[in-house]
Amino acid sequence: MSDSKVTLTDHETGKTYELPVYKATYGSPLIDITSLNKETGFFTYDPGFMSTASCRSDITYLDGAKGELMYRGYPIEQLAEKCSFMEVFYLLLNSELPNAEQLNEIEREVADHTILYESLLHLFEGFHYDAHPMAILTGVVGSLSAFYNDPLDITNPEHRLETAYRIIAKLPTIAAVTYKHSVGERFTYANSKMSYCGRFLHMMFSRSGEDYEIDPVAEKALDVLFVLHADHEQNASTSTMRLAGSSDTNPYAAIAAGIASLWGPTHGGANEAVLKMLRNIGDVKNIDKYIAKAKDKNDPFRLMGFGHRVYKNFDPRAKIIKNICYQVMEKYGNDPRMELAMKLEEIALKDEYFIKRGLYPNVDFYSGIIYSALGFPEEMFTVLFTIGRAAGWMAHWIEMISEPHKRIGRPRQYYTGLARRDVPR
Ligand code: ACO
Repeated sequence: MSDSKVTLTDHETGKTYELPVYKATYGSPLIDITSLNKETGFFTYDPGFMSTASCRSDITYLDGAKGELMYRGYPIEQLAEKCSFMEVFYLLLNSELPNAEQLNEIEREVADHTILYESLLHLFEGFHYDAHPMAILTGVVGSLSAFYNDPLDITNPEHRLETAYRIIAKLPTIAAVTYKHSVGERFTYANSKMSYCGRFLHMMFSRSGEDYEIDPVAEKALDVLFVLHADHEQNASTSTMRLAGSSDTNPYAAIAAGIASLWGPTHGGANEAVLKMLRNIGDVKNIDKYIAKAKDKNDPFRLMGFGHRVYKNFDPRAKIIKNICYQVMEKYGNDPRMELAMKLEEIALKDEYFIKRGLYPNVDFYSGIIYSALGFPEEMFTVLFTIGRAAGWMAHWIEMISEPHKRIGRPRQYYTGLARRDVPR
């Protein structure tokens, strides 16, 4: 049942068509065009999904004008302050926060699935030591489909849940092996008694023959960053994962597609690009030059970590991340890039070009400075984003696969190529 209707008039024929309109819990009302082509012969045209909802979802809501983000109705500020990543993972999957017993169980499930098959570990040897970690991650996660395929029944809710646990459990292990491979060190096996982030830090940075103590500041900062990255409704990587998964393909292959999309510098790859940009700017005295470059339409340069398709006021995640930056620097010492980033933000936010277009620092602007302080190399930044975002991907995959009237995703096109002609022979 629709909440109201809109009327479409074809001025060429004078015909009118009524289209159902639905009201969402929040946000703009939506015109349902699923039967538009059948009834009118028209398609709609919306490259980049500027005005199109690709699906119905109960998971996350964000209001770009207000700078508001909620997972399952809970504001991101409250989740970041009061909940762990494992609690948020449970929340995204189950709609409710876990009680102590449920939290214990999901932590145990995830800890149980951290290990990789030995034969999968051999796969890393085939990658060159300087391969980009996101390239390795895309390949290795895709290859999980070779290990978990035949007994996996995506119509079985228990199998779906186990897939979610496996992905969240194995991503830090894969990330750590990728890093160790790049520095030529022996991989440290996961310790199931540690917290999710403690275990990851231990796998990343402990070395055989040396003691390694997990720093609670680093453990907490990483956990909050994973919470902040956990979901962001129908962004490019989630939509890619949903589209790939809509064909009922193996979920590990669908997640690999999401990872490939996230890698791009206009999406998750921006966190790595921000530090490269700050390095190129080098000094506060060069900021004006780079601001001018960003505004010049003949120059491809853009301020990385600035701007967002939906947020036109501020990105609430960026505000929280900036505060974590201060906490981390208190422990690890000041980073001159922080001062440069803050000055860049200050100048850009007063500039008419950025004000007019609603361009603000996004989630990626300050996150790299924290990752860097914790000892992660720049190439690993988007891998860290992937670990957090995988929680949302799994919730979206389960939501999509469980839909009773799920359809394969199949966009249409606006054909502007040549008209029919005959081969001149
Ligand atoms: N620097 C300079 N100008 C910018 C920037 C930027 N970072 N971002 C957008 N603009 C300008 C565009 O040139 C355009 O100007 P115009 O209207 O004069 O043509 C206007 O702002 C609108 O930009 P679009 O590209 O149409 O906005 P869109 O919603 O398609 O893109 C995006 C959003 C991709 C995030 C863009 O702002 C960008 O490239 N930012 C830099 C990369 C980045 O930080 N990405 C991370 C995003 S968050 C995430 O995915 C995790």
